[in-house]
Amino acid sequence: MDKKTDQTFKHKLAEKAAFTDFLLSKLLADTPDIQPRIRQAAQYTLSSKGKRIRAAIVLWSSEIVAGRVTNAAEIAAAAIEMVHTYSLIHDDLPAMDDDDLRRGRPTCHVEFDDATAILTGDALLTLAFELLATKVENSSSAVKLIATLAQAAGSSGMIAGQMSDIEAEKTDGDIKTLEYIHINKTAKIFQVAATMGAIAAGAKQAEVQALSQFGLKLGLAFQIADDLLDINATTEQLGKTAGKDEQAGKLTYPALLGVEKSTQLEKKITAEAIDALAIFGDKANVLRELTAELLGRKK
Ligand code: IPE
Ligand code: IPE
Ligand code: MG
Ligand code: MG
Ligand code: MG
Repeated sequence: MDKKTDQTFKHKLAEKAAFTDFLLSKLLADTPDIQPRIRQAAQYTLSSKGKRIRAAIVLWSSEIVAGRVTNAAEIAAAAIEMVHTYSLIHDDLPAMDDDDLRRGRPTCHVEFDDATAILTGDALLTLAFELLATKVENSSSAVKLIATLAQAAGSSGMIAGQMSDIEAEKTDGDIKTLEYIHINKTAKIFQVAATMGAIAAGAKQAEVQALSQFGLKLGLAFQIADDLLDINATTEQLGKTAGKDEQAGKLTYPALLGVEKSTQLEKKITAEAIDALAIFGDKANVLRELTAELLGRKK
């Protein structure tokens, strides 16, 4: 990709990230009666500088299918970032990965305390589903969005991956277990981002299928990149502590296959993500650009 295209893409992503920031703060502000300390901690974590990739995937998938961002896609974009943010708050807790830095700031449990972090995670997870149930205008779309997000985030999705990630610490592990962890803890959330965008735009079955496959592959490549960055990038670049995986004895791609093979695999899976977009032709170029951008990401 030449430099000019890249700049244009960065602008497109920045625009979607800013829109997501706006949605998150508006939806939180419009939700009445949130307990004051929970509101404060939710605001603190939601307003920190996330890349907003999952929300952007929802919004772009809706544009690709319907030519616009639908009301349901807006709510789904905010909901997925809430679920993602909850997962990070809990992932960073002392009982899990025990991290004190996230998005360049003290983690929620460091800034507040463990109980507040646990409850704020619970609150964001619950709020995501409340918003889908109450703010998506078409109730049949709302039910589909709720069901797909629950499956992806729940005990046969992200929670399964997170549990197995902890179980696999300090074990030799094998490629099947590692793939299970990465698909469940990360790729299914990318998959559901693309799928929710499609559903929110009233996509045909074949379009939902294609975007779902795209999201799954992109998510797997994204987690391999995350494992590699833990080794190759600095704490400053990442806004989270580098070198934590080896310290914790995590089962990661570089730990099992080495850096070079992991990099090759990331490239191969990235190409498969791009292949899944074929049915959309040029309309899906922005997702191709995103995929290329994530392959070389430095944070
Ligand atoms: C971090 O996700 C957790 C993983 C699944 C690797 P991101 O790298 O998307 O984190 P933010 O949202 O930009 O902080
Ligand atoms: C996190 O994976 C996945 C989820 C939060 C579901 P990691 O533990 O590798 O994420 P980082 O490196 O802390 O962001
Ligand atoms: Mg983790
Ligand atoms: Mg972690
Ligand atoms: Mg990581």
